[in-house]
Amino acid sequence: MQEGLPKISVPDAVEGLIDPATLFPQAEDIWFEVGFGGGEHLAWQAGRHPTIGMIGAESFVNGVSKLLTRIEDENLNNIRIHHGDVRPLIEALPARSIGRLFVLHPDPWPKKRHHKRRMISPWFFREAARVLKSGSELRIATDIADYARWTMMFARQAVEFDWTAEKADDWRVRPADWPQTRYEAKALHEGRAPVYLVFRRA
Ligand SMILES: C[S@@+](CC[C@H](N)C(=O)[O-])C[C@H]1O[C@@H](n2cnc3c(N)ncnc32)[C@H](O)[C@@H]1O
Repeated sequence: MQEGLPKISVPDAVEGLIDPATLFPQAEDIWFEVGFGGGEHLAWQAGRHPTIGMIGAESFVNGVSKLLTRIEDENLNNIRIHHGDVRPLIEALPARSIGRLFVLHPDPWPKKRHHKRRMISPWFFREAARVLKSGSELRIATDIADYARWTMMFARQAVEFDWTAEKADDWRVRPADWPQTRYEAKALHEGRAPVYLVFRRA
């Protein structure tokens, strides 16, 4: 971890800004994952899309360490990691710099007094609208029914985004280009059905 991480860490912001294009000079596009957990989804996307630069943020050290092992085992060279709070990093990204944004199974914070800690929030939709390119996707999954309602409540207020679902299976069935994460497997095992929400940035 001490050896691998510095090489692929997202550098500190300069004057409050990080230009992700400088991290991946050859990449066709840059995708970003919030709270990647063990990194299963991020590594899968990076492996299948070698021309995409993938940035992932995770505050939990064990998750970062798991992803570093995957990167080494799978010889992935299109990933940059931010170990820490994702929020200052998102705020340091330039407008219209990201081609796809993923938030998979964000911490549910079930108690009402903790709802303000939830990642999905008006702040999040505002920042997502700012950093995402026109026509790009925001993908959110949750296995908590209350969090799905919460997400849709803020999504409806975010006029920059359209929900792409046309029929129930569009949100009930995980798309083929969206691998299962550890949390999703846990949810299914415990009898909770996840939802897969895809929004398009106008
Ligand atoms: C419930 S887990 C889901 C992990 C993974 N996305 C999955 O589906 O398996 C939520 C993850 O988000 C991370 N997380 C929560 N808040 C964060 C923040 N502000 N910045 C970075 N990571 C965060 C947690 O450490 C945790 O690993």
